[in-house]
Amino acid sequence: MSSHIMSTIIACYRRVETGHGKGSDASGHHMRHTVVRLRLMTISLFWAHPGGPAWGKHKWRKFSSIPISKPIPGPKGAPIIGSMKLMMGLAHHKIAAMAQSFQAKRLMAFSLGETRVIVTCNPDVAKEILNSSSFADRPVKESAYCLMFNRAIGFAPYGVYWRTLRRIAATHLFCPKQIKASEILRLEIANQMVAMFRERKSDFHVRDSLKLASLSNMMCSVFGRKYNMDSYNTSEMDELRVLVDEGYELLGTLNWSDHLPWFAEFDVQKIRFRCFKLVARVNRFLRRIIDERKAETAMLHRDFLDVLLSLQEPDRLSDSDMLAVLWEMIFRGTDTVAILIEWILARMVLHPNVQAKVHDELDKVVGRSSVVTESNMTQMVYLAAVVKEVLRLHPPGPLLSWARLAIKDSVVDGYHVPAGTTAMVNMWAITRDPEVWKDPLIFNPDRFLTKNCSAEFSVMGSDLRLAPFGSGRRTCPGKTLGLTTVTFWVASLLHEFEFEHCSKNLVDLSEVLRLSCEMASPLKVRVRPRHSPSSPQCYHQHVRHT
Ligand code: HEM
Repeated sequence: MSSHIMSTIIACYRRVETGHGKGSDASGHHMRHTVVRLRLMTISLFWAHPGGPAWGKHKWRKFSSIPISKPIPGPKGAPIIGSMKLMMGLAHHKIAAMAQSFQAKRLMAFSLGETRVIVTCNPDVAKEILNSSSFADRPVKESAYCLMFNRAIGFAPYGVYWRTLRRIAATHLFCPKQIKASEILRLEIANQMVAMFRERKSDFHVRDSLKLASLSNMMCSVFGRKYNMDSYNTSEMDELRVLVDEGYELLGTLNWSDHLPWFAEFDVQKIRFRCFKLVARVNRFLRRIIDERKAETAMLHRDFLDVLLSLQEPDRLSDSDMLAVLWEMIFRGTDTVAILIEWILARMVLHPNVQAKVHDELDKVVGRSSVVTESNMTQMVYLAAVVKEVLRLHPPGPLLSWARLAIKDSVVDGYHVPAGTTAMVNMWAITRDPEVWKDPLIFNPDRFLTKNCSAEFSVMGSDLRLAPFGSGRRTCPGKTLGLTTVTFWVASLLHEFEFEHCSKNLVDLSEVLRLSCEMASPLKVRVRPRHSPSSPQCYHQHVRHT
């Protein structure tokens, strides 16, 4: 029936195009009328398809060539723009509710303008998508391209260049040997953070210190640049913070131009304009550091910049590609870590009984008068369970940050998914699904402790019931470094302090979703030292001797 409607519309279009009715003004007017009516009919027909206009358009454009398959259920949204509203604000909440109402938790289709999207809230289907070679690409995002990320790992098209970058990063930045080598740096920064928190005599926000610590950590690993946190407001650090914040904002904003090509040239949201301004500043900032390094005669450093500069053909990168890769590391490695620690501390304040158990474990494993080191972490089973429980309830990337793109036609959960479709996994919905987790809304780290008291559940991507770092070929390459940093810094802070509610504000767990999902009201705490200050000297000596 509907294919009959479409054939009729196409036949009418052809008649109009071949000039039927050319002649008098009246018939010209009639023709224009017919064109408008045909357009409206086409728009309605596309829009009426399950999943909305982008799916309808694809179906009717290809209706003779694609295999007959049942449509994926999903909302139509509005004509032309589809379900753009779903992606505004807390998209993970809205998508979960919509999937529930369409009984499409396993797989739901929707349209973002002309972009066809599928989303799953089910761990089995998530595995099918993330581990499939068909979904190894990322959808094109104008801001990512403007900000050079298409030449870095995250947005590079799936292929030789992307594989080369991942191999270089895996060998020189994320391998166990390199992570071990940077332990001393994390220790120094933990020490600075402790000293800063100790200075605070009244209530304070933790976010700025955490972001600063994280940025300092990445700047040292990548560029060998050391900043002292208590005298951090150097112009270099200030500028960097502004650049990262602006990049975060631009990449995290829903850009209408990505989904409505006819809208793109107007740049109504001014995203392109801001990206060009930002990329010029980033270029200036990073080029200065790279040039300074190139001018050095002696090999003084062993950081990621050195590694990239010393690469030989065929791996050698052009200056602009190198810049993109370095910028991505700073950018990706900074906020994710800080955001996760803020959620963990919020939960510690909200659940003093859980905090007390971590304190007990620290006292047992480390001892009150000793210094925490990363080698202690393997015995900190309860803390590991706490971190997992926070990742479950507050994954920094509830929709796994960046979506995937189908490179070729494929079948997902029995449905035909055409090449060019964007695929998302709603990890937030999976981790709060009562069919997947018992009492999912209750904060209970014990769920990760097995009978023999080891936290066995892996969050690294093998079990899609909780995979906050994604899974498959494009899984997060920084996950071990990120998790090591988070666990160690939380242990160091909790070893020194008891975190408490501040006098006025209770902890508010509301979220705001930008590129990552942060606390909408930044956490404000007061800290109570657990023992007298340990000398920073001891930290260094301890690490050198272990
Ligand atoms: C708590 C910390 C972190 C979380 C929760 C996190 C989460 C994620 C997620 C969900 C993805 C998408 C994975 C997928 O598509 O399957 C991702 C990708 C990525 N992450 Fe992380 N991440 C964290 C830390 C880091 C760090 C420290 C770095 C680097 C210094 C990093 C670099 C990247 C890069 C480069 C990608 C793109 C990978 C690709 O497309 O091949 N991440 N991350």
